[in-house]
Amino acid sequence: MNDKKITTASIRAMKAKREKIVSLTAYDFFTAKIADGVGVHLLLVGDSLGMTVLGYDSTIPVTMDDMLHHCKAVTRAKPNALVVLDLPFMSYHESTRLAVRNAGRALQEGAAEAVKIEGGATIADKVRAIVNSGIPVLGHIGLTPQSVNQFGGYKVQGRDPETAKRLIADAKALEQAGVFGIVVECVPAELAKKITASVKVPTIGIGAGADCDGQILVCYDLLGLFTYTPKHVKRYANLAEAMRKAFAQYKEEVERGKFPSKNEMF
Ligand code: KIV
Repeated sequence: MNDKKITTASIRAMKAKREKIVSLTAYDFFTAKIADGVGVHLLLVGDSLGMTVLGYDSTIPVTMDDMLHHCKAVTRAKPNALVVLDLPFMSYHESTRLAVRNAGRALQEGAAEAVKIEGGATIADKVRAIVNSGIPVLGHIGLTPQSVNQFGGYKVQGRDPETAKRLIADAKALEQAGVFGIVVECVPAELAKKITASVKVPTIGIGAGADCDGQILVCYDLLGLFTYTPKHVKRYANLAEAMRKAFAQYKEEVERGKFPSKNEMF
């Protein structure tokens, strides 16, 4: 293995060294190459691709085959970053057997190095079975988008003491089940800090304040490829506007006979 390759062990060690884990979603070869080139540590082939790339309203319709298709594109970039495939809705809920089978497909067909799975104590048995098969698992608690219908919308989780307590217990149950890290999504910053202090594995926050061991963002959000920007997102670019301008200029130049010019002719 190349000595720059980031593994689940290196991600775990970063917590002890107090080094921030920088994570991003990636759904294609080119994005994976660029993100890896700047040294992003973890690339998540997130089921958010349902909304960003495939145009669905939620992550619910995303299938295992959709995930594998995009994961293969990301892993063809041969990144040093750890590549994690997000197990989609209903790919692990039904039974432990199904969970292990689909986690296995992520590694065998998608060439992922780990899987992510949404849920806490209630899915700990599945996490344990996947880990026992030699497949590293990243947990995901808080606002777990696959449960949007149960939550009644994309709402901040853990605002009341009871859910806050349950989320801390979920993090501990996942740690016991063997996860190498936990994504904590859309919870109050104070609670994310408590969760981070209560487990030895790193937490990777999204909308969870500054005290998690790392951060993750949906790459389309930070690039400004969506017109809607959630509160937890900082836009580092406005690619939607850059694309609109480029397409409009191309259209105009073709219509006015300015493109192709001599430079683009044989
Ligand atoms: O699918 C996804 O992009 C995710 C991140 C938001 C953590 O699960």
